[in-house]
Amino acid sequence: MAALRAFKSAESRGEQVPDIVCYEKQDDWGGQWNFTWRTGTDHYGEPVHSSMYRNLWSNGPKEALEFAEYTFDEHFGRPISSYPPREVLWDYIDGRATQSGVKDSVLFAHAVRWTEYDEATGTFTLTVDDLKNKRSLTEEFDEVIVATGHFAFPNVPDFDGIETFPGEVIHAHEFRGAERFAGQRLLLIGGSYSAEDIGIQSHKMGARQVTMSYRSAPQGFAWPDGVDEVPQVASFDGSTATFVDGTSREFDAVILCTGYLHHYPFLPHESQIDSPNNLYPEGLYRGVTWQKNPKIHYLGAQDQWFTFNMFDAQAWFVRDVILGRIELPDPQARQESIDAWLETYSGVEDDAAAVRFQADYIRDLIEQTDYPMFDLDAVVDTFLAWKKDKKTDILTYRDQAYRSVMTGTMAVVHHTAWIDELDDSRERYLSSQPSADEAQDAARPA
Ligand SMILES: Cc1cc2nc3c(=O)[nH]c(=O)nc-3n(C[C@H](O)[C@H](O)[C@H](O)COP(=O)(O)OP(=O)(O)OC[C@H]3O[C@@H](n4cnc5c(N)ncnc54)[C@H](O)[C@@H]3O)c2cc1C
Ligand SMILES: NC(=O)c1ccc[n+]([C@@H]2O[C@H](COP(=O)([O-])OP(=O)(O)OC[C@H]3O[C@@H](n4cnc5c(N)ncnc54)[C@H](OP(=O)(O)O)[C@@H]3O)[C@@H](O)[C@H]2O)c1
Repeated sequence: MAALRAFKSAESRGEQVPDIVCYEKQDDWGGQWNFTWRTGTDHYGEPVHSSMYRNLWSNGPKEALEFAEYTFDEHFGRPISSYPPREVLWDYIDGRATQSGVKDSVLFAHAVRWTEYDEATGTFTLTVDDLKNKRSLTEEFDEVIVATGHFAFPNVPDFDGIETFPGEVIHAHEFRGAERFAGQRLLLIGGSYSAEDIGIQSHKMGARQVTMSYRSAPQGFAWPDGVDEVPQVASFDGSTATFVDGTSREFDAVILCTGYLHHYPFLPHESQIDSPNNLYPEGLYRGVTWQKNPKIHYLGAQDQWFTFNMFDAQAWFVRDVILGRIELPDPQARQESIDAWLETYSGVEDDAAAVRFQADYIRDLIEQTDYPMFDLDAVVDTFLAWKKDKKTDILTYRDQAYRSVMTGTMAVVHHTAWIDELDDSRERYLSSQPSADEAQDAARPA
């Protein structure tokens, strides 16, 4: 959407833009935000893309991801809270796509299978499956923008003896809701956002015990009773897991919250990012343009503090490279730029520095385009305040409210505290104060 919107914006200013085709393998818009109950394969037999689940709410304040040229005020017509549930954020994304007319240029249910580059002609031949009509097509293009995300292919490490575990072992990608873990002892392996949120979701839905096992460092929140952290799993023996500190516990189910792989099966390996999930994957000039072939561009390949507005900044930059408004330097100068950013990144030692690093990266992109500059330092402050809220109480941080840096509007406090809210629908979210009965119903465990 960011890329389509960027070209649309140039077009509306009277600029000549190239023909653009967007292939999307799902039936609708929204990427990760397009929730499905399915796991494994979808109704076309394709790998399920979304890793989201019921009762997933934004895990950062919406004020940090707001589009600079399509604000929450414009979409909802009134202030809403800072941490909307998934369906509400999907609605916001969809609203922007619909309002700008870019949805019409997407070929839905079209899966890109393969991309072949011809050095001699400088063109790409794409092979694409039209999933609805069961036909394959090939098309030629001058430039390729890869916007397929990087949180869809689970990283599934092995653990000694895990095959003897008698209960269920799933990856966070397959997790669709915590209700069924009520009364169970749950082991979450991983020490990042998925472990944190699936952990507190499970606590909220009545899990008997939630244990999070970290490899590098504990998350260190003041967890509620029944939730805690232990070091890395050393081995499993049946339902017992032993940790590297020699302690052991029994579990009913295991969820691997071990992150995702950069994986682009429609590209030859030499054109694929091969990186851990970090803020500056190697091989991308200005974080977007593939150094080995600058006619390939990646959007959103970084680990994400900033999300939607960073994708916009990247898309505006890539658009201007493609339109020739920004001249690409020669390979050596591009490499020097990559190395300089990597050098700065190597000095990033804590979360505050990481947020600033990403803000500086976005600023650098926006300064080169006509995307509306916004107060990135104010967004950094919002992120730092958010981190403080989480430290204060991991169960109430989503009840806090922030001010939009785009419009100055102060968010409202949601009618129901996150811990009591069991209905994540858009309808309930946007309802005004629910009646006492409704609130009680929603708070009653399922
Ligand atoms: C569990 C989870 C929770 C998250 N929560 C938040 C949050 O609270 N706040 C936040 O700001 N961000 C959150 N994110 C980050 C999320 O990555 C971004 O918000 C955003 O969805 C990334 O957008 P994207 O377009 O880069 O990728 P995606 O949203 O992943 O979209 C990529 C699209 O490419 C399509 N595609 C893939 N392969 C092909 C192919 N071969 N052919 C055609 N189409 C293809 C997919 O179907 C999909 O629609 C979360 C991520 C996850 C995994
Ligand atoms: N809205 C929400 O509530 C929500 C919920 C879930 C996820 N998300 C989003 O989803 C994205 C992905 O988050 P994520 O937590 O899935 O991935 P992630 O941030 O990349 O973290 C992966 C975690 O897995 C651990 N890990 C990897 N290999 C391991 C191994 N062999 N053994 C033990 N641990 C291992 C890593 O440990 P090390 O630190 O040691 O590398 C790290 O803690 C983020 O953008 C996040 O914001 C949002």
